[in-house]
Amino acid sequence: MNYLAKRITQSSKKSFGMYAKAAGIVDPQRDLIHLELGSPYADTPTAIKQATIQALLDGKVHYSHLQGLPHLRDALARKLAAQYGLDYSASEIVVTNGLTHASFAAFMALLNEGDEVVLLEPYYPQHVGKIELAGARAVLAPFDAEAGFTITPGLIAAKITPRTKMIVLINPCNPTGRVFSREELQIVADLAIKHDLLVVSDEVYEEIVFDRAEHISIASLPGMRGRTVTMFAFTKSFAMDGWRIGYLSAPGAIIEGILKITTNDVTHVNTFIQEGAYEAVTTQAAALAELVEEDRIKRDLVVSRLNQMAGVRCSMPQGTIYAFPDIRETGMTSQELADAILENTDVVVEAGSFYGPAGDGNLRVCFGSQSVERLTEAMDRLQHFFGTL
Ligand SMILES: Cc1ncc(COP(=O)(O)O)c(C=O)c1O
Repeated sequence: MNYLAKRITQSSKKSFGMYAKAAGIVDPQRDLIHLELGSPYADTPTAIKQATIQALLDGKVHYSHLQGLPHLRDALARKLAAQYGLDYSASEIVVTNGLTHASFAAFMALLNEGDEVVLLEPYYPQHVGKIELAGARAVLAPFDAEAGFTITPGLIAAKITPRTKMIVLINPCNPTGRVFSREELQIVADLAIKHDLLVVSDEVYEEIVFDRAEHISIASLPGMRGRTVTMFAFTKSFAMDGWRIGYLSAPGAIIEGILKITTNDVTHVNTFIQEGAYEAVTTQAAALAELVEEDRIKRDLVVSRLNQMAGVRCSMPQGTIYAFPDIRETGMTSQELADAILENTDVVVEAGSFYGPAGDGNLRVCFGSQSVERLTEAMDRLQHFFGTL
């Protein structure tokens, strides 16, 4: 292992949490129900597949523009303008291999040795590995569970030092399911402007918001466009996690550095996959609305069932595909509980502590990854289990 790989403190196995544990179970008699991984249950809409197949048949099998197909980037720029009031030209958008690649490129291009990056905690563990790879240090700002995992004025301010370079935001938030309000985002924006910080905003769940919640992109707040990298993906919205396609938007000066990274790692995203993404962003609004409605139905089912279980309290997630029930009444740690649930029910859920100590009073239950029937079966098993504690 070279010095770069050694910089990443968490082992690759640990970085997959309960998924890695469940993968170790090979007994075919055990009927595992996976609620730990954020892989959408739905299939990718057919029109997206057809456009991709057609692109292959039409010979779109050669190199694309390194930054992404121009007509795709044009369509993405139009989408960002229409949906969030963001003003980016196609030259300020880079098509990436999922959000993972967008964040890799952003952290590599922007961070220097010794920089500090503030992450709101519970955090997304995969962000940390990349920050460490870039030679920087992740500084955790723990949310208060009692305050409903909201952004408060003191939360981030207390973590800013002269070495702070960046704040990382996940909105809508995995694992808590929060969709941050304009007031909460303004707190982050005010601090970023005051201390001259960059904001890297992971908006992979941008489309998956429920009821009257509105997703606001922090780059649209006054003074933020020039200091924000916003990252999106087709992964969750269009059930395209295996396709590996996303994109980022940022001002030109930042794009230049990001392109140095992306053209040297993957060159560009597969040409025909980009045609599928073009279909998604230009014609698939109705299919997207249907997918989100399916998630809402599953959310309602899972949250209502969780709230009937002894020792469990679950608030309603405003977005994402996760419920984040509070399990403190059980007196167990979230890891003990997730292990016991797997052992006794063959349901796999993630321990809240996987996302940092501030998540230890909770479990993360993915309602977007199974059919209604399987979710019902999982909830029956969990209800029985909690009744025995
Ligand atoms: C917050 C967050 N960011 C990034 C990702 C990874 O996205 P992608 O599969 O597009 O790389 C996930 C996937 O679960 C996620 O929850």
